[in-house]
Amino acid sequence: MATDNNRFQAIISHCKEYGFIFQSSEIYDGLSAVYDYGQWGSELKKNIRDYWWKSMTQMHENIVGIDAAIFMHPTTWKASGHVDNFSDPMIDNKDSKKRYRVDHLIEAKADELEKEGKKADADALLAEMDKLLAANDYEGLKKLIEDRKIKCTVSGTGNWTEVRQFNLMFSTQLGSVSEEASEIYLRPETAQGIFVNFLNVQKTGRMKIPFGIAQTGKAFRNEIVARQFIFRMREFEQMEMQFFIRPGSQKEWYEYWKEERMKWHLSLGIPKEKFRFHDHVKLAHYADAACDIEYEFPIGFKELEGIHSRTDFDLRNHQEYSKKKMQYFDSEINQNYIPYVVETSVGLDRTFMMILSEAYTEEDLSTADKQDSRVVLKIPPKLAPIKLAVLPLVKKDGLPEIAREIMDDCKSHFRCFYEEKDTIGKRYRRMDAIGTPFCITVDKQTKEDGTVTIRHRDSMQQDRIPATQVRELVQKHIG
Ligand code: GAP
Repeated sequence: MATDNNRFQAIISHCKEYGFIFQSSEIYDGLSAVYDYGQWGSELKKNIRDYWWKSMTQMHENIVGIDAAIFMHPTTWKASGHVDNFSDPMIDNKDSKKRYRVDHLIEAKADELEKEGKKADADALLAEMDKLLAANDYEGLKKLIEDRKIKCTVSGTGNWTEVRQFNLMFSTQLGSVSEEASEIYLRPETAQGIFVNFLNVQKTGRMKIPFGIAQTGKAFRNEIVARQFIFRMREFEQMEMQFFIRPGSQKEWYEYWKEERMKWHLSLGIPKEKFRFHDHVKLAHYADAACDIEYEFPIGFKELEGIHSRTDFDLRNHQEYSKKKMQYFDSEINQNYIPYVVETSVGLDRTFMMILSEAYTEEDLSTADKQDSRVVLKIPPKLAPIKLAVLPLVKKDGLPEIAREIMDDCKSHFRCFYEEKDTIGKRYRRMDAIGTPFCITVDKQTKEDGTVTIRHRDSMQQDRIPATQVRELVQKHIG
């Protein structure tokens, strides 16, 4: 059984063993902080993405979605401030040559202090760090690291360089080398694809403020400390929404979206106490207010989603750099203005990790006669990779044919899985391990009275129901 400390490792191993997540290019020893989603991981990820998309677009009449390209004109990133500001203070250890993000290094020390029962000291350290970061005081940060005797985890020494800024964007060349090649960036956030399309969508969709544009897609960051599985990756996926509003109304909409997004997370059945808001002390270059929704991962409370009041920073800068007007005419107040924006930005991979962290359960099922246990993923049925497993008890006597008929009735409505190999107990356990909420067994009695056994994943309770009711029952639970 996994203890609290090794629960995270147990989840990582489970992901690999059951086809959720693999190290990228594993046959070549992998690529650091890059991961591939396997057959069940990609289904779960798609279900989370679809659930977010539906709740943002279909459930909000004033929000529409787009799908912008990853490559964007390089000036985009000048206008957005990413070329000049998208960097983190870093420090290198001179002996190991390992580079660290300064805040991560200090936070790790604070975690250590907290584990030793020195909570007040840990809080004081973090408060001091926040103050120095807000003041861009790099000398002060280095001194703090030295005074606190923070050591490199590889060399074990405190032989540090100065603190420096390090840009996180990846760049590449557009066009062949012989042509006039131009340097472009892999987008570090999806949001800019929304900003540059603001007028296209507003005009063609005849959108009236307040309205939102949603998007999901890949983003890329050359993360320095990237060793927490899918929590911090170099290629990851975001689900972002920019909400365009009248200037001056940003406080009200910021509060609205904080609450709305918290409700979304709670709708996944996760207890309230696993979440908290964390207000940013040092604001990003574009924000006038910002907070994170943090979730208590097995590695502690960490950022899951950012809610940012981005003012008119992005649209104003795009207007300046592109020389195209980013104005909106508000007929209600008879005024032209550049809209303000409140953004919600959640990591798809982090949401995936949250769902797995909540779902992963090890159960001891031992009885007086027999030792037994199971690992079950209690994924909300609406997100589960497979909704229904159809299992003929034996591979003969016409049972596979009946099972196939049930598959045919259900598979165009939701993801089903058919399996006839191994004992029924082993098949149930395999389905538990990938989070399938329902299994039905077709047996001799099915031939007599048309009923099947339906087994519920979490309770392991089994009921007898008519085969004709299977589809409806599953649909009721995943709706
Ligand atoms: N457009 C605003 C923006 O990108 P952010 O706080 O930098 O804001 C938003 O990122 C979310 O994207 C984060 O809350 C996190 O869930 C996810 N995210 C950011 N960097 C990530 C990384 N390296 N790996 C996985 N997810 C990441």
